[in-house]
Amino acid sequence: MVELTIDGIKTRVPEGTTVLEAAREMGIIIPTLCYHPSLSPYGACRVCIVEVVEDIRSSLEASCTLPVEQGQVIFTSSEKVTKARKLIIELLLASCPNSKTLQDMAANMGINKVRFKIKDRGCILCGRCVRYCKEQMKSGGIGFVGRGTSRRVATAFDLAPEECRNCGGCEWICPVNERACMAGNLIDGLCGACQNLKPVETCPVCTECSQSVGPSGHKVY
Ligand code: FES
Repeated sequence: MVELTIDGIKTRVPEGTTVLEAAREMGIIIPTLCYHPSLSPYGACRVCIVEVVEDIRSSLEASCTLPVEQGQVIFTSSEKVTKARKLIIELLLASCPNSKTLQDMAANMGINKVRFKIKDRGCILCGRCVRYCKEQMKSGGIGFVGRGTSRRVATAFDLAPEECRNCGGCEWICPVNERACMAGNLIDGLCGACQNLKPVETCPVCTECSQSVGPSGHKVY
């Protein structure tokens, strides 16, 4: 067993556990995007960053790929973490402005404007679809192609791959491939209504959406 301290609370977890898993065991919520418990950790989105304090130094690390260590001291929502996480979410939102997940994350963190140039790629390059295809479907029909700003998920030569079984898992596992929030837009700023949602209020307008309404019956999704 390994003993570490997360947000001032001591805990003991088996060796090989990640900091994200240890925090979740304690009920501490760390947001994630590229992480999925059924897939190998990839550490791409950086949304799950935590502050690791060592003596007088501290560093930001992705908790989903960070193994626990004896005596480790971790902060999951320090000022440093919050500032960096906000920046990361803003950058991701600039790549995927219509993602409801990202919009909700942004609203929860008090982000109401994206300062970066918006280029809707519909993808945050988290690789969940690629890992799902390879690890769960044993297919490998999709992968990353290109470098830098040209990097994208694609099939070989952009042709329909023989390996693809049309399972739809790549779409299902995507953390940003969701119905867009219709209440705000990134030019005028996010409406922020999502963070005030009462969790199980039913939308009186339709039953097809996520069935949530914001304050004053304002339809959010
Ligand atoms: S969830 Fe940890 S880097 Fe994406």
